[in-house]
Amino acid sequence: GVIAVLNGPNLNLLGEREPHIYGAETLADVQERCRRAADAAGFAVECRQSNHEGALIDAVQELRHSAGFVVNLGAYTHTSIALRDALAAVSGPVIEVHISNVHARESFRHLSYVAPLATAVIAGCGTLGYEFAIATIAARVHLAGG
Ligand code: DQA
Repeated sequence: GVIAVLNGPNLNLLGEREPHIYGAETLADVQERCRRAADAAGFAVECRQSNHEGALIDAVQELRHSAGFVVNLGAYTHTSIALRDALAAVSGPVIEVHISNVHARESFRHLSYVAPLATAVIAGCGTLGYEFAIATIAARVHLAGG
């Protein structure tokens, strides 16, 4: 199966954007990390990043039959009902990832429109969170006999 890994706005600048918060790894590093983690669990990955809400919705729709979704929607996490609705229509588990611990930051980062429909929410583990998310999807798919 294929695990979709979706990154939202400003995550294309990982490595140079606020490195004291988001670390030194680039998006390409993160996507490679995901590819390896998925490969070890017997899955492929389809990685997408966009700064545009509509493009992210299109990606969710296109990939909706994936084995699962790993999503870091960046600031759209806290604002986008449309992305939440798109993710409500996918078939597999959705795991929400944040590199930083959003709950230890500004209050506007405490609300997530995605969390209520997510199987799990991982925040503050750095980019390792993406690997935990992939392992969680793999475990659930295997549990379900997939
Ligand atoms: C983020 C947290 C969001 O609040 C922020 O807007 C981001 C990155 C994270 O990975 O920690 O862009 O999703």
